[in-house]
Amino acid sequence: MRTQVGIIGAGPAGLLLSHLLHLRGIGSVVLERRSRAHVERRVRAGVLEQGTVDTLVAAGVGERLLREGLVHRGIELRHGGAGHRVAFERLVPGRAITVYGQQEVVKDLVAARLAAGGDVRFEVGDVAVHDAGTDRPHLTFGGERLDCDVIAGCDGFHGVSRASVPEGVLTAYERDYPFAWLGVLARVRPSAEELIYARSERGFALHSMRSPEISRFYLQVPAGEDVADWPDERIWAELRARLETVPGFTLATGEIVEKGVTPMRSFVAEPMRYGRLFLAGDAAHIVPPTGAKGLNLAVADVRVLTEALAHWYATGSADLLDGYSDTCLRRVWRAQHFSWWMTTLLHTFDSDDAYGRRLQHSHLDYVTSSAAAATTLAENYVGLPYERDLPGPAPAAAEDDRNEGTS
Ligand code: APR
Ligand code: PHB
Repeated sequence: MRTQVGIIGAGPAGLLLSHLLHLRGIGSVVLERRSRAHVERRVRAGVLEQGTVDTLVAAGVGERLLREGLVHRGIELRHGGAGHRVAFERLVPGRAITVYGQQEVVKDLVAARLAAGGDVRFEVGDVAVHDAGTDRPHLTFGGERLDCDVIAGCDGFHGVSRASVPEGVLTAYERDYPFAWLGVLARVRPSAEELIYARSERGFALHSMRSPEISRFYLQVPAGEDVADWPDERIWAELRARLETVPGFTLATGEIVEKGVTPMRSFVAEPMRYGRLFLAGDAAHIVPPTGAKGLNLAVADVRVLTEALAHWYATGSADLLDGYSDTCLRRVWRAQHFSWWMTTLLHTFDSDDAYGRRLQHSHLDYVTSSAAAATTLAENYVGLPYERDLPGPAPAAAEDDRNEGTS
């Protein structure tokens, strides 16, 4: 069996890559180890940057997203007994985020691929990468062989693609955090119209949502926490303790339909390529979910890889493929820093001394009182323009800065 691009993984990265390649007339086969039902019900994050929304709409898979997605033009940072709205419409006019569950994106992409006759294979066991360092790579799975021009490793942090790269080729950059997130999905109307990021002495809490009837919450818990130690009553009590810290706010409670603990880590593997194997999405990098960047980074990687492959097939030139890793890593590291920054700003650290806690309070006070500081948060949160990722010098600073000689 042969295809142009062999894709491992039917998460957002693998499915979107397959779809975008199809739109450019490039064939692919997607090999997914889990069932379709599993990947379509897997609850993950739910914040889409403006660029992600634009990408999905332009690719013809944004109809339900535009209909059901919740457009948000601000978030609230809650600390020290007060709430502070970060108003995107004032700080980054015209840019917003859309709240739409990742599993909904996956459903839309699976439907689009199957409707187009795409070759997406679920419940495929023991996928293995072969000869990625040559110009004749291939995949094997379940006793079958798939010859490809190129392999896309879209199989997430625990996949086989990154692990198939020979020792010594990749450099891993990582940071673990001394806490995790307990995620909760509840059948209850959201208690606020927008997301609330709350820092309290008890720890971080996030109020998010999926629809006018479904709320999504996260609680900072110790690393390695067992979800069995968090019965519903304890979850609601802790959410109320960390969120009901401003006058007039009452948290609505209801039926918890899903809960789970997610570890927090920052991770980047460089380069994001080995020969004819290209890593995209979580296979190459992981961010703590505080900045809601994981899905958006996967989309950005896939955009770059699609353009590079289309250019290669059209012209025979591999220059964009050769630039794939560096182009992606510019956005990846910006998102790594932003996610680390949001995480250290809003979470409590047992290792912090009294001085460290004062620094954190002062930092939060600055971000919620300075337009310049809030703009930094806002422009990273809604997503920096894709044009910024193009190789070459960083975009010049603002006109007045340039006149003052700061470049
Ligand atoms: N063979 C085939 N498929 C595999 C294998 C394997 N050996 N290992 C993993 N997979 C599949 C997983 O079952 C999953 O469906 O690869 C897919 C990877 O999808 P994601 O983990 O969602 O990664 P990605 O597509 O890069 O999307 C990143 O997903 O996990 C979230 O927070 C993350 O929002 C981010 C987004
Ligand atoms: C979510 O709704 O799942 C969500 C929102 C914001 C985040 C992380 C997750 O920073």
